[in-house]
Amino acid sequence: MAKVVKIVIFAKSNLQAIYWPKIYNLLTMNILKTIVETKVSMNELHKQGKSIGFVATMGALHDGHLQLIKQSKRENDYTICSIFINPIQFNKTEDLEKYPNQIEKDIELLEAENCDFLFNPSVEEMYPEIDQTEFDFGNLEDVMEGANRPGHFRGVAIVVKRLFEIIEPTRAYFGKKDYQQLLIVNSLVEQYNLSPEIIGCEIIREESGLAMSSRNQRLSFGQKRKAPSVYTHLKKARDLKEYLAPDVLKRWIEEKYIGHDDFRLEYIEVADGNNLQPIEKWEDTDKPMIFIVVHMGAVRLIDNIELY
Ligand code: PAJ
Repeated sequence: MAKVVKIVIFAKSNLQAIYWPKIYNLLTMNILKTIVETKVSMNELHKQGKSIGFVATMGALHDGHLQLIKQSKRENDYTICSIFINPIQFNKTEDLEKYPNQIEKDIELLEAENCDFLFNPSVEEMYPEIDQTEFDFGNLEDVMEGANRPGHFRGVAIVVKRLFEIIEPTRAYFGKKDYQQLLIVNSLVEQYNLSPEIIGCEIIREESGLAMSSRNQRLSFGQKRKAPSVYTHLKKARDLKEYLAPDVLKRWIEEKYIGHDDFRLEYIEVADGNNLQPIEKWEDTDKPMIFIVVHMGAVRLIDNIELY
């Protein structure tokens, strides 16, 4: 537990003997590369009865990620972020190859938030051998991301379960941007009796309304100007809800993308936010939501909106 040791050294030192580099060092984040050192550090905190907030990421951090870190910092004694581009959750090699990697910048961003720990393992460290685990998330994985990205949630579940077992966080923070992932993680925790309370956090958007995403970096200037229309349509649809049935509302959005040069609609669903099943009547649920994925060139944009 390097940071605690440093604090003890700091406290015991004669003030005059302290020089600035040492103080600076005290403020920097602990970067953990191995599972063993991470377990040792976390165990030390557990023994002291400290609460640990955890934010799992694949890096290329933006304000959406940093809001999760901020919330974790507010609600826990210590916060740990993981950055691991998890190869087994990508169902397209091209998407994995093009996934942005900017670890130095990410470290600076986390240090600016006073994040306490970063777990940044290699692929070999996380997967010394192929993991054969299979999961059953029932109907939750039959729709949307589950139906359109075969194997994706199995890859997410394997890595999140492993990270939870290494860190044993008190609370773990997930964004509602990936709403289906949030429900899958809830189910994972329940099925395997894992440690954390799962906290779902609101979607953070650019001023334009575009949901923040690491993949947005790959949008051209022109695409970035047009991409916010995805959210504009969702907001308009929310206003139209009182006049239109779910399937009509769905068609209203679909029509926006027919023959469009800039966008290709992958899916749009009007569904129950409790179980993600499509709804026929608004009365079928207390949590109606719209979920959408569109492509702009090679970039996949995911978004959703609550209609309640
Ligand atoms: P990643 O896409 O890096 O996202 C990490 C976390 O940040 C997820 O919980 C995601 O929902 C949240 N997030 C991303 N953009 C957000 C935004 N604009 N507003 C709010 N939250 C946002 O999701 C993953 O990584 C991976 O699947 C992971 C869970 C780390 C497993 O590999």
